[in-house]
Amino acid sequence: MAPITEDRLHETAQETLSISVVDPDVEAAEQVAENLEHMGYVAFTATNPQTALDRLGTGQIRVVLAKTDLGTMTGLEFLERALEIDPGAYVILLSSSRSMEDAVNAIKAGAYDFLESPIHWTHLEQTLERLGEEFSRRAQIRDLEHRLLSHLDFHGIVGRSPAIVEVFERVQKISRHFTNVLIVGPTGSGKEVVAWALHNLSPVATERFAVCNCSALVDTLLESQLFGHVRGAFTGATETRPGLFEYANGGTVFLDEIGEMSLGMQAKLLRVIENREIQRVGSPEVRKVSVRLVAATNRDLRAEVMAGRFREDLFYRLTTLEIRVPGLVERIEDVPLLVQFFLKKYNHTYARNVHGLSRRAQALLLRYPWPGNVRELENVISSACLTTESDFIDVSDLPPHLQKPHPAAAELDDAWKPVSLDSLRRQHIARVLEFCAGNRLRAAQILGIGRTSLYRHFKREARLKARQEQEKSRESRA
Ligand SMILES: Nc1ncnc2c1ncn2[C@@H]1O[C@H](COP(=O)(O)OP(=O)(O)OP(=O)(O)O)[C@@H](O)[C@H]1O
Ligand SMILES: [Mg+2]
Repeated sequence: MAPITEDRLHETAQETLSISVVDPDVEAAEQVAENLEHMGYVAFTATNPQTALDRLGTGQIRVVLAKTDLGTMTGLEFLERALEIDPGAYVILLSSSRSMEDAVNAIKAGAYDFLESPIHWTHLEQTLERLGEEFSRRAQIRDLEHRLLSHLDFHGIVGRSPAIVEVFERVQKISRHFTNVLIVGPTGSGKEVVAWALHNLSPVATERFAVCNCSALVDTLLESQLFGHVRGAFTGATETRPGLFEYANGGTVFLDEIGEMSLGMQAKLLRVIENREIQRVGSPEVRKVSVRLVAATNRDLRAEVMAGRFREDLFYRLTTLEIRVPGLVERIEDVPLLVQFFLKKYNHTYARNVHGLSRRAQALLLRYPWPGNVRELENVISSACLTTESDFIDVSDLPPHLQKPHPAAAELDDAWKPVSLDSLRRQHIARVLEFCAGNRLRAAQILGIGRTSLYRHFKREARLKARQEQEKSRESRA
């Protein structure tokens, strides 16, 4: 399927609404369809609800006008199945019952309106006009977001919230200087995207940009990756290889997860920064290099320095200029734009044509705390885009933990209780761990602490629990 294009979206905003009339009485259905065509709509009829659902599945229908008594299923059953097939469809139920309760239940279940049968034509006309306006407004908003996308990404960083605009301004200012930069921010917040923007805006944009993830390699491999090695320097070094500093000489080296680097490697890196020269592993030859170093971390490096895990001298060398990338909850208003951006990307990758999200799904995304930040949002959209069977991603296309309603930030404040910092810390760690399904490495990354700190926490907790149990059994003996 072709990806969404601006022209196509524009066309959609001006589209004539197509209406499906579902009524077991064929004559009544045809009469209603004829009236609707007089009013300028495109109308189809179905006496069998399954025929109407099948047509809805083809994407030809925007509005369904269905009787609540359809013979083989009730109006509510039909509504549920219709919204499963197309969460973006507008379903109007027509009932001879004047029960307020039925009307409320239908609206709660997602019906656009609940009208009396036989049809009161002025009411229906007004409802369809309102619906038409809403439909073109929705399409125009999508169109607008799509257009904004081409202006509101700043060198690959999508966003328009005040928090991200501050990052744009800082990147713009800093990129001109050939100094070292430290990018801090929680996991998945876009530190690498910011590093790319810094490089692309710098005077060395035409030179190379090399990336190294410091946490992925043991020291010996990391050293050879960064500085290169000569043949025979270690077992397996069958040929001489330059490292990333030489490869990106004149350009930028991006050191991701610098907070995970061992103290030994930190010393070696410091020497390179101070002397602007490297030595390939196993070679006495000293080579001059000139690179801009951009480092990133999700840890609090100052705290790491205090804890003796990060060299203070290196810390000052790296933090000449610092950019803080805010977590996604601090710029939740960027979510709709990021969603459009990722939809465009994954529609293209998977050759799909998903137009957007249902209102219910959008509301859930805006209330979720996004511990994995933009990366998590990207994963949610890419898998929903791949698996959804409709034009709009709905709640059931989202991962189960997202389907549960999350309290908004304001409601969280309401649940506030005066507790000690220790107990807050304990609760928070337990929740993050639960979120990561017990994966301690991932939990430590989200918490922004080292794995060893997390283990120390568990040990302390276990000791505390043992002591409490001892005291309890002593008390019960007494
Ligand atoms: N503002 C943004 N606009 C568009 N895409 C973004 C944005 N921020 C992040 N992304 C995307 O989200 C994913 C994660 O971003 P990135 O790798 O830069 O995060 P990170 O902060 O470096 O994560 P980690 O701490 O795990 O290294 C990437 O696929 C990136 O393209
Ligand atoms: Mg990264």
